[in-house]
Amino acid sequence: MAIDFSTLSLFPATAEQVLVARQRTLHEWGKGLTLEEHLARDASQDQFDGSRNGRLITWVLTPRDEPRTLEFKCACETFKRTGLVIDPAEGATAKAVACYGIASVFTPPENRGKGFGRHMMRLLHWVIADEDLLPTSEFPVAWGAPPLRVEGTRNGHFSALWSDVGDFYSACGPAPDIHDGWVVRGTATTVWGVDSTPVSDATLEWTWLDDSGVSELWVEDAEKIRQDIQKEPSAGGIFAFLPTQGVASFQHRRLEFFLQRLAPPPDTWGVASPDRAAYATWTIDPRPPAPRTLSVSRLCADPQTFGELVGRIMEVAKKNDVKCVEVWNLSPELKTLAGTLGANTHERKEHLPAFKFYGRESEANVAWAFNERFCWC
Ligand SMILES: CC(C)(COP(=O)(O)OP(=O)(O)OC[C@H]1O[C@@H](n2cnc3c(N)ncnc32)[C@H](O)[C@@H]1OP(=O)(O)O)[C@@H](O)C(=O)NCCC(=O)NCCS
Repeated sequence: MAIDFSTLSLFPATAEQVLVARQRTLHEWGKGLTLEEHLARDASQDQFDGSRNGRLITWVLTPRDEPRTLEFKCACETFKRTGLVIDPAEGATAKAVACYGIASVFTPPENRGKGFGRHMMRLLHWVIADEDLLPTSEFPVAWGAPPLRVEGTRNGHFSALWSDVGDFYSACGPAPDIHDGWVVRGTATTVWGVDSTPVSDATLEWTWLDDSGVSELWVEDAEKIRQDIQKEPSAGGIFAFLPTQGVASFQHRRLEFFLQRLAPPPDTWGVASPDRAAYATWTIDPRPPAPRTLSVSRLCADPQTFGELVGRIMEVAKKNDVKCVEVWNLSPELKTLAGTLGANTHERKEHLPAFKFYGRESEANVAWAFNERFCWC
């Protein structure tokens, strides 16, 4: 029987619903953890900078007259962040705006294939986007009454997610039957095999950065992103996430649970050149069965400094018994250089970056600047 979507709505989860949502994902995302460990890990993430102060909201799709039910249809999470937008119609100055990262989209197996996931994601635009920026101010009649307003939301200028289900999210737009959901953009992945890549010598005095060192670097980086984005030529809009407020640190802190089991646990999360014009930050994923991987979260270099920077990354990779180094979305120039340094670049099939821009411009005309690993969630 066809589902009457007007009977459903999207609500922020109660504490009990959050717990059930997390229990449901043990099998999919627990990666060998016990239920207690899985829940403890999620609870520790609640204390991260990127989650606190209401930034993390778990949403549940439920019958609209049963908002507190533990039998909700499906769930997802949003992280409110600060980003930058340039609207060429308003000049070349980057404006700081609210934006959202979306994660943990999950329908339990018994509810799959009935349209719940798609409807939840369609409704999500109506709870996170600045209403003035949606293509229509009229909530679709076929979907009943709009979701209730949640304090601190309905202000987003763009949102992004990293799809493990192909272009499923492109069909999840803010109106029925219009496929203008999240658009996949920028899947290039450059990979080095660590054992086969020699470590080049350093001529510069590079500084290794620990957790607080990378946090300081990302403050500087946010300013550099602001300056650089204003130099980007674009006929349409441009947007970028900023690495501060716990966005970039999420990459290595979320794996702390597994990293602490290594002997010794890695504690270097970035490296910077003496003038801090070239730098990289990263996380290390030690979870088997995949080869231990160092994922570069943010990289800034020119062709002159890139080779030495890659050498430092290889140094830290070898020290931590990493087998594989990957970087997302290098510039064409650095991608070519990486090829001469032993890397291969391919188009990734998982964690596909996908965005929805809330504004006049269609996604086709909008550029995602600094579409790198640091903003993944
Ligand atoms: C992806 C997921 C949320 C979809 O939820 P759902 O409630 O079944 O979604 P809907 O019924 O609205 O839509 C089902 C569609 O998802 C598609 N889909 C499901 N899994 C998919 C996958 N791995 N790759 C591509 N498409 C997929 C189905 O093919 C179906 O497409 P169709 O409508 O064209 O037939 C659900 O399958 C799920 O929780 N999967 C496990 C967790 C996961 O991978 N989450 C996404 C992380 S980015």
